[in-house]
Amino acid sequence: MNLKIAVLSGDGIGPEVTMQAKKALNAIGVVYNHEFVFEDAYIGAIAIEKTGKPLPDQTLNLCRNTDCILFGAIGDPIYDNNPTAKVRPEQGLLKLRKELGLYANIRPIKAYPHLMSSSPIKKEVLDGTDFVVYRELNGGLYFGKKTTNETETYASDLCEYNESEIAKITHLAFKAAQARRKKVTLVDKANVLETSRLWRRVVTEIATDYPEVELNFLYVDNAAMQIILNPRQFDVLLTDNLFGDILSDEASVISGSIGLMASASIGDYHSLFEPIHGCYTEAKDKNIANPIASILSVAMLLEHFGLFEEAKKVIAAVETAISNQVVTVDLKVDSRFGTNEVGDFIANHIMDAEDLYFK
Ligand code: IPM
Ligand code: MN
Repeated sequence: MNLKIAVLSGDGIGPEVTMQAKKALNAIGVVYNHEFVFEDAYIGAIAIEKTGKPLPDQTLNLCRNTDCILFGAIGDPIYDNNPTAKVRPEQGLLKLRKELGLYANIRPIKAYPHLMSSSPIKKEVLDGTDFVVYRELNGGLYFGKKTTNETETYASDLCEYNESEIAKITHLAFKAAQARRKKVTLVDKANVLETSRLWRRVVTEIATDYPEVELNFLYVDNAAMQIILNPRQFDVLLTDNLFGDILSDEASVISGSIGLMASASIGDYHSLFEPIHGCYTEAKDKNIANPIASILSVAMLLEHFGLFEEAKKVIAAVETAISNQVVTVDLKVDSRFGTNEVGDFIANHIMDAEDLYFK
């Protein structure tokens, strides 16, 4: 297979972890005879610095004309310390999601047997946890009308959804459940919010198309508690943009590190693969950032293009790295392995090459 991939490595640790993801893809290319052609472009704070815009037109055009996007991270403390800055790195990612119609953000959550001691949650609670968050990505509070008054003493963000936005992601979530443990949990705040009541109605109607899938409802406040109390109960967790953002960071605690969490953002015509962690600027260029989230997003990319064997190969190499403790300091405080070494180990394993660093 030939794939043209736009590489938007962005800010902070984005470039260094994306580099490891590319290594893994190149290794897959060698083993399975695929050609992956990468083309880099700016997004986020670096794009503002270079062009004045968080999503330059050139980047957007490239993304429209590639098979998919490999994304790193965006953000910079300069902007975090200045929340009123009008031009912000995050706008780049939000605009990209909207322009390309990436409406479903898929975030798998898994407890790794070798990492259970890295999680603050008890092993008995974690054991066997395996669920996936389907987060709506093009609507809700993120994209509704925003206002402030002239004196900046008042602000509002409108939360809006229409039936078709809800329906699109709901079908994807039910299809995913069909291939998994056949359970969808809709997380909302239907006791308070009109948008949540609309979600309930639309999702309930669509559920009748998938009779073998069980549908449950959970209020978001309760869901936040259940994810920690009893995460095994979940299979597919379906929710809106903001709730999904919050709950998926919370759920990352299950795996032991947010540095393990990959995601796919899917639309009808485009797809983007990225770690869920942010730019982690403090770790930039120190060779300490965990590259696994980025490498696992490569596995999601391969699956998306039907390359299931290849995806399994990447996951198996990651699991070998984890079980041999070839991990970064977020997972093992005294680890002697850095971003590059973990990336090399995984790429070598994909190629069944010798483990230069593990010896
Ligand atoms: C994420 C991030 C983004 C979001 C930010 C960077 C805009 O937190 O992908 O989860 O809130 O969606
Ligand atoms: Mn987030």
